[in-house]
Amino acid sequence: PAGGLLDGFGRVATDLRVSLTDRCNLRCNYCMPAEGLDWMPTDQTLTDDEVVRLVRIGVEDLGIREVRFTGGEPLLRRGLTDIVRRTAQLRPRPEVSLTTNALGLARTAGALAESGLDRVNVSLDTIRADVFAQITRRDRLHDVVAGLEAADAAGIGPIKINAVLLRGVNDHLAPELLGWCLERGYQLRIIEQMPLDAQHAWSREGMVTAEEIFASLATAFTLTPDPDHRGSAPAETFLVDGGPARVGVIASVTRPFCGDCDRVRLTADGQVRNCLFAREESDLRAALRGGASDDEIADRWRLAMVTKRPGHGIDDTTFLQPTRPMSAIGG
Ligand code: GTP
Ligand code: 5AD
Ligand code: SF4
Repeated sequence: PAGGLLDGFGRVATDLRVSLTDRCNLRCNYCMPAEGLDWMPTDQTLTDDEVVRLVRIGVEDLGIREVRFTGGEPLLRRGLTDIVRRTAQLRPRPEVSLTTNALGLARTAGALAESGLDRVNVSLDTIRADVFAQITRRDRLHDVVAGLEAADAAGIGPIKINAVLLRGVNDHLAPELLGWCLERGYQLRIIEQMPLDAQHAWSREGMVTAEEIFASLATAFTLTPDPDHRGSAPAETFLVDGGPARVGVIASVTRPFCGDCDRVRLTADGQVRNCLFAREESDLRAALRGGASDDEIADRWRLAMVTKRPGHGIDDTTFLQPTRPMSAIGG
C-alpha cells in the first residue's frame, strides 16, 4: 500500500475514466470524418477480464472512487453489462457511470440499472431531427430520445445531457435544448469544443465560447450562480430562473479547471493517460500480458502520474494536439 495516484502538483486522481472501445455508430462532424477511422484491432483491445482487473487494482489499491465508462461508444461493447456488474461489486463500491450517445440504450437500460449503473451522461447536441442528422451524419434522434426515456424509467440518474455547440449549426438552438431538458428533468451541460477532433480542424475562433453560451441562454432564461459547492466537477452550474433546475457550462478552454483535476484515463488498449492532453501514455496492457502482479501494475500506474502537467496548455504557443483523437482516448 504505497498510496494513491498523486501527481507532481499535489493533485490526487480518484476518478477513473475507462474507454471500452474506440468505435462509434455516429459520425459527429466535430469528432471524426464521415468514413470513420482506422479502428483499433481486437487483439490490442483489453478483454473484459483485463478491464475488470485494472479497475479492481484502481479501486482496491489506488483509491479510485468513481469509474466512468466511455468510448468511442461504450454501448457497442458486448460485455458492457458484465463489466458494469463486476465493477459495482468491488469494495469500496465505486460510483459507476456511463458517457454514451444512447443509441441502443432503450434495449439495455434495464439490465445496466440492475447491474449497478448509477448514472448516465448522454451526448445530445440538438433536439431537431434535421440538425441532429447534419451534425452526427446519422438520422437517429428518435433512438437517443428512446434511450433517455428508458434510462429514466430504469431509475438511472440524475441524467445529464452533454451538448457541443457549433456556430451557425446549433448554437442558436441552445435555449430550445435547455427548455426540452428542463421539461424532462435532465441536467443540460454545454461544452466548449476542445482540439481533440480526428481531422485537426478545431480553431479557437471557430469554438463557441462559454461567454457566447451564456449570452444565448440569457435570451430566454435567467441564470444565477449555483450556491452549491463545485468541487472538482468540470461543469460550472447555474440556477435556471431561480432554480432548483440547473444548467452547466463546461468551459475547458476559456476557464480551465485543470488545477482541481482528479481524473485519470485508461484507453481501450490498456494505456494509462494522466490527462486528455497528455503527450505520453503508460502501457499497462504490456504489464498485464507480461505477467505482472497487482502490486507491479499499481506501481507502474502511480509512476504514470508523475508526468501529469499542470494544465492542458491549449493557449501555449508550443501546444500540440494529441496524436490520438478523443474517440480513441475516451471522452
Ligand atoms: P460528471 O461526473 O457527471 O460531472 O461527469 P463529467 O462531466 O466529468 O463527464 P462526461 O463524460 O459527461 O464529460 C463531459 C465533458 O467534460 C466532456 O465532453 C469533456 O468535454 C469534459 N471533460 C471530461 N473530462 C475532462 C478532462 O479531463 N479534461 C477536460 N479539459 N475536459 C474534460
Ligand atoms: N471537445 C469537447 N467535447 C467533445 N466531445 C466530443 N468531442 C469533443 C471535443 N472536441 C463530447 C461529446 C460527448 C462528450 C463525451 O464529449 O459530445 O458529449
Ligand atoms: Fe461518437 Fe462521441 Fe465522437 Fe459523436 S462525439 S462521433 S458520439 S465518439
